[in-house]
Amino acid sequence: MSEKAVLLEMNHVKKSFDGKGVLEDISLKVREGEVVSVIGPSGSGKSTLLRCATLLEHMDGGELIYLGQTACSEKPDKQGKSRCVYASKAELKEIRKSFGLVFQSFHLFPHYSVMKNIIDAPIHVDKVPHGEAVERAERLLAQLGLSDKADNFPYQLSGGQQQRVSIARALALQPKILFFDEPTSALDPELTVEVLKVIKELAKEHMTMIIVTHEMQFAREVSDRIVFMEHGVIVEEGSPEELFATENPRVKEFINKLY
Ligand SMILES: Nc1ncnc2c1ncn2[C@@H]1O[C@H](COP(=O)(O)OP(=O)(O)OP(=O)(O)O)[C@@H](O)[C@H]1O
Ligand SMILES: [Mg+2]
Repeated sequence: MSEKAVLLEMNHVKKSFDGKGVLEDISLKVREGEVVSVIGPSGSGKSTLLRCATLLEHMDGGELIYLGQTACSEKPDKQGKSRCVYASKAELKEIRKSFGLVFQSFHLFPHYSVMKNIIDAPIHVDKVPHGEAVERAERLLAQLGLSDKADNFPYQLSGGQQQRVSIARALALQPKILFFDEPTSALDPELTVEVLKVIKELAKEHMTMIIVTHEMQFAREVSDRIVFMEHGVIVEEGSPEELFATENPRVKEFINKLY
């Protein structure tokens, strides 16, 4: 069987804030249909990694490639110092279409209805005809158990429902990869379950996902691969079976504390 296409490649990514290294040589390859969870202690650089991957943060070094298209790569400047050079605005716009991002704190537009939150970007960014955008949104709302909420405003929804709307909004742009940064950490346990269920269903449909999470049981169930980060490096990565049977005392301690 031929191997699945590589959708995302991060090579030797480096990022510092105020001279302090936050990502120190991170490499990560994600193939079509893979679910990769990123775990690790607070401050280890998980969000920074996601922000670099999704072009929200400027990398200092390394290379970022989506579907074979280089978003940025390291080149020496006139002084011979290495820095990251990004693709043109037009190319980055194209690359941005290949991924979606779901944040911890939903980030819905408070003054837009659920429907408008979902169709806004497809209509204005992707130029999808209105009727088609609405149909797509209706399908997604049904899939995520929110059909009766289309006309509600975010403040009228529970946190779990709001997070499902933000997942629908990301899916409406038909991304090839979906990133999640702690999608349930703002939710109580009951609402967490309903959001995790949606992500598990997406995994069953072979949606490619990179998920930063503290939910160890969930990571174990849903992931093809788990990456453990600490101090800006990948300390260990492997299948859930491998990670949960690790001999590395630091990884073991972390997992056992949260499991
Ligand atoms: N914009 C920024 N300016 C300065 N320092 C930053 C910035 N963003 C992140 N950092 C620092 O980088 C380090 C890694 O932060 P990051 O948010 O990536 O960690 P994390 O693994 O996502 O943690 P958590 O589990 O708490 O979300 C931290 O020390 C943080 O203070
Ligand atoms: Mg974080």
